[in-house]
Amino acid sequence: MQQTSPEIGGMGHSIKRKEDSRFIQGRGNYVDDVRLPGMVYGQMVRSPFAHARLKSISTEKAKQLPGVLAVITGEDLAKANLAWMPTLFFDKQMVLATGKVLFQSQEVAFIVAEDRYTAADAAELVEVEYEELPVLVDPHKATDPSSPILREDREEKSNHIFHWEVGDKAATDKAFQNAAVKASVHAVFQRCHPAPLETCGCVADFNSATGKLTIYMTSQAPHAHRTLFALVGGIPEQNIRVVSPDIGGGFGNKVPIYPGYVCSVVASLTLGRPVKWIETRSENLQSTGFARDYHMTAELAADGNGKIQAMRVKTLADHGAFNAAAQPTKFPAGLFSICTGAYDYPNAFCEVDGVYTNKAPGGIAYRCSFRVTEAAYLIERAVDVLAQQLKIDPVELRRKNFIRPEKFPYPSPLGWSFDSGNYEAAMNLALEKINYQELRKEQAEKRAKGEFMGIGISSFVEIVGAGPAHTFDIAGIKMFDSAEIRVHPTGKAICRMGTKSQGQGHETTYAQIVAQELGIPAADVVVEEGDTDTAPYGLGTYASRSTPVSGAATAVAARKIREKAKKIAAHLLECSEEDLEWEPGKFFVKGAPSKSKTIQDIAFAAYTNMPAGMEAGLEAVDYYDPPNLTFPFGTYICIVDIDKGTGEVKVRRFIAVDDCGNVINPMIVDGQIHGGLTEGLAIAFMQQIDYDESGNVQGGSFMDYLLPTAVETPHWETDKTCTPSPHHPLGAKGVGESPNVGSPAAFVNAVVDALAHLGVQHIDMPITPWKVWAILKEKGVVS
Ligand code: CDP
Repeated sequence: MQQTSPEIGGMGHSIKRKEDSRFIQGRGNYVDDVRLPGMVYGQMVRSPFAHARLKSISTEKAKQLPGVLAVITGEDLAKANLAWMPTLFFDKQMVLATGKVLFQSQEVAFIVAEDRYTAADAAELVEVEYEELPVLVDPHKATDPSSPILREDREEKSNHIFHWEVGDKAATDKAFQNAAVKASVHAVFQRCHPAPLETCGCVADFNSATGKLTIYMTSQAPHAHRTLFALVGGIPEQNIRVVSPDIGGGFGNKVPIYPGYVCSVVASLTLGRPVKWIETRSENLQSTGFARDYHMTAELAADGNGKIQAMRVKTLADHGAFNAAAQPTKFPAGLFSICTGAYDYPNAFCEVDGVYTNKAPGGIAYRCSFRVTEAAYLIERAVDVLAQQLKIDPVELRRKNFIRPEKFPYPSPLGWSFDSGNYEAAMNLALEKINYQELRKEQAEKRAKGEFMGIGISSFVEIVGAGPAHTFDIAGIKMFDSAEIRVHPTGKAICRMGTKSQGQGHETTYAQIVAQELGIPAADVVVEEGDTDTAPYGLGTYASRSTPVSGAATAVAARKIREKAKKIAAHLLECSEEDLEWEPGKFFVKGAPSKSKTIQDIAFAAYTNMPAGMEAGLEAVDYYDPPNLTFPFGTYICIVDIDKGTGEVKVRRFIAVDDCGNVINPMIVDGQIHGGLTEGLAIAFMQQIDYDESGNVQGGSFMDYLLPTAVETPHWETDKTCTPSPHHPLGAKGVGESPNVGSPAAFVNAVVDALAHLGVQHIDMPITPWKVWAILKEKGVVS
């Protein structure tokens, strides 16, 4: 089949020419604002087919278009041994297709032209001849002998990627044999996409005079990306500078390396000009890292009183065409083994199989600490199903099974050591705020009148802050993180970090940590991230690791500075260090508070009047390797009303009680929770990247992949309990992803609770009005 106009969009959204919106990007993406002299533009040519052999690619017509500078194909890259690149999970991925394409929208050729419009026009002149092949979209059929083998490049002629298991299978099976009650749920956590408003992009600028390659890039992990460019591309690392200032939203989408970045670098090296590539909205949704796509079965065994004794989990993970999961390498299923949740039972066994299908690659941690969202959703759904089966109130079942506060540090049956927790306190606060007993009465009254109201509870536990480095690495690089603080002579400071904010307010919160530890006003502290030429090496920001790791590094670096400051203060006050006491901002002589030196006095002296033999300057760096992860938690309660006539679910109230230990900035934490809950709402009710049987993407634009607006978003009520982390220098735990991890189960539990008396035990997300209406019809409620 000859395809000359490679337009994509499974729902028949053909892309129009210049007047359409493909070049309109959300603001806040600094990379799209980069304008360099002589800059040219890159444009991908993409496959319209999900599985097809590439018979031929003719680029002649495109090359003849005035303004076109180069057309790069997979064959061209193959000559430089760059047609394939390693993924973050030790698989390999085609940069530009050679031989065949494996998913719709896969990158086939890269055009470089003087302007964006010419590049887009030239893309339409690339003639690609495809021979369609049978398509595999159902992960359950991946290992059927009748299914096509997708990855001909692999030695293993199978679509099976990995089998991973953890826990004591024999003990768990035994507990199930002896159990009075068994409950099970099969839950699909559908394929989602982080859908940052600002898409991915870069400007690669190779300067042939200096030999330096600068890459302005939407990167959540600039240092790791620079190292990978150096290792894979063979460019000396000191000659690469990755700059990632305001990169727009990330949510995990900007952790992997995508073909567009690589092609831009290759084009800049070849042409000696800066090459900009910015994805369109549809390209982002259709081809960059997806999230979830976990097909999970959980079973719980309990005694007749509802005391849980064991959990058994079997999961099928659809990774698409390449295993491009962005997660620690020892964990093929990420930290999914947190799936035992907030409950205390001795036996658990969890197994996961990963498979290839004809879909975009990924498996990224979308506002999630590597598959924790799937895990929290599964256990919180399973507990509700067990409660339904036992006819016990879901609150009481949770209360009966929570890990008690005195049991921390708690060794989970799947191998984690939970640092601290008080799950019942968080649940009690949420129940009190929502007035739970009254709501149950109201629900009974409404049911008697034939109305549908539901109450959904989710008491989730999280696991965030990877390292420790002995267990955690990404692509071999250990998962520590860093902070470098330099106090200037006038007592102002700069704090440079290995992390990379995408709007989480690091500029504020790291400055606050310096202020708290050193007494320098936060307004006097500049925080810098995202430039590999200046920032200390770090693994970047995703999976709520910034506060647990770099927040700790900031505190430790500040304390190192305070140690030196004390010596200088003793010198200035002519006393011994033992005679000094600290209060934020100054050292004073014990018993004589008027004899003091402020941190500003001390900073000045560090450059002008230091003690004999002391190095000048007042600065410190810390590469922090956390001793454990942090385990934030919370209880979310959602109240829904269902309109019988339309199946529409209205979220009447939602209360989120979070516990992330000591809070650095309550307003920022609340903002994180509001944002994450809104994303959770969208996942529960609106979003899915689906495929038809030919592999056409069904959610490839914002017409189909819905983003919640203020209209759909309810008022979020938030509160906190505080259970500090015992091992974090500030007692803080991460929080950014908690609302996305904890909320999907609260929404789904609420809808199922509203319909439970009809015998409904589970509904897969997204819970659309149509799905609910179909259930009401099936149950004879509406006709
Ligand atoms: O890694 P990421 O920044 O996405 O997540 P995080 O560590 O959970 O932090 C998100 C934002 O919330 C940052 O600005 C943190 O400093 C802030 N935060 C806080 O103020 N107190 C906490 N206990 C946790 C996070």
